[in-house]
Amino acid sequence: MSYPAVARAAMEGLDGSLIRTVFAEGAGLEDVIPLWFGEPDVVTPGFIREAAKQGLDAGRTFYNSNFGIDELRAAIAQYQSGLGRSVRFDGVCVTASGVNAIMLACQALLDPGDRVVLPEPFWPNLAGISRVLGAEVATVPLRLRGAAWSPAWSVDLDELLAALTPGTRMVMLNAPANPTGWMLSRAEQEVLLAHGRRLGIWILADDVYERVVFDQPAAPAFLDIAHADDRLVSINSFSKSWAMTGWRLGWINAPSTLMPALGKISEFNTSCTPPFVQLAGIAALQQGEPFIAATMARYRAMRDLACARLGSIPGVSVPVPGGAMYSFFAVEGCTDSLALARSLLHGAHVGLAPGRAFGPAGEGCLRLCFAVAEDRLQAACDRIADHLAHTGGR
Ligand SMILES: Cc1ncc(COP(=O)(O)O)c(C=O)c1O
Repeated sequence: MSYPAVARAAMEGLDGSLIRTVFAEGAGLEDVIPLWFGEPDVVTPGFIREAAKQGLDAGRTFYNSNFGIDELRAAIAQYQSGLGRSVRFDGVCVTASGVNAIMLACQALLDPGDRVVLPEPFWPNLAGISRVLGAEVATVPLRLRGAAWSPAWSVDLDELLAALTPGTRMVMLNAPANPTGWMLSRAEQEVLLAHGRRLGIWILADDVYERVVFDQPAAPAFLDIAHADDRLVSINSFSKSWAMTGWRLGWINAPSTLMPALGKISEFNTSCTPPFVQLAGIAALQQGEPFIAATMARYRAMRDLACARLGSIPGVSVPVPGGAMYSFFAVEGCTDSLALARSLLHGAHVGLAPGRAFGPAGEGCLRLCFAVAEDRLQAACDRIADHLAHTGGR
């Protein structure tokens, strides 16, 4: 008798990332402008790197609390209070990235078979983590609505509420959203919070882009309006606001009743986050506002450039995102976004993410990350325009 050396059955049904499929195909190609991933093209600011170096030199290299070092937890609570949120120090759990924060929260809350609802197109890891844990994912489509010259992604709130049926365990709401830049209004958050309270549904608010917004200092957050004992977990990350994608640092805000479970689960995942990395996080929170302001001025210019240039291509429909760092645009006649992303890669040497990577509702679209230097973005738009003019988007 022999036993096949394979992973558990649930792994079979997990989709790999289609963004990585295109990325892998681009390896070895020369002169590609890579706009497929969601990360700033600048190195982490010097004052943040310096704080990590000082931590290393001071010997901050040991295991620490499952919840993170007290200095960082306090700095997070203080930073969030500065945004007008009343956050308790003991309701903060430091994590090894935003994606780790989502995994920890879901491990604490989801049982196999639980129903999880999320708007689609979605960041694939939200659905992926739910599925790793055996939860059932149901989606509600965002729709591209509005006049041809000013389309916008929006959700039908009644449709979303109808999907949040009694017995639903969790709704995952990522706004500003990756990939669409879709935002939730304060009024919509209030309705959703009240509905969640009525039915006992957990809200997982993925707030990693809350500072990557164009017309206000921070996006409205469920944390602004929730009570300390609401079924709300907010996920956050240092990756996007402070250009720290490679550091793997994030945090969770959770009700105090959930903290013991998060502590235990943190132990069984990473146990803790490196202390010198956490010291870098403190520097980011306490000295990072000028960097965020400068970054957002740059992104605003790049967003406007991307929208204007892509919007002038015949057959391309470009909503203007309210937040995040992506243009998620629809190409008329495109029925296979993976094929189109491949053809743009090989034919125009531009690396984009296929819309289908974000769920079937993203089919026909492409995602471009505009967090890059202006000359690169201009060149990418030229190449996309030429390519679509020759191929018609197929
Ligand atoms: C919506 C969303 N949530 C969470 C994350 C996680 O970020 P990180 O794991 O780098 O902290 C990302 C990263 O792309 C994201 O787009």
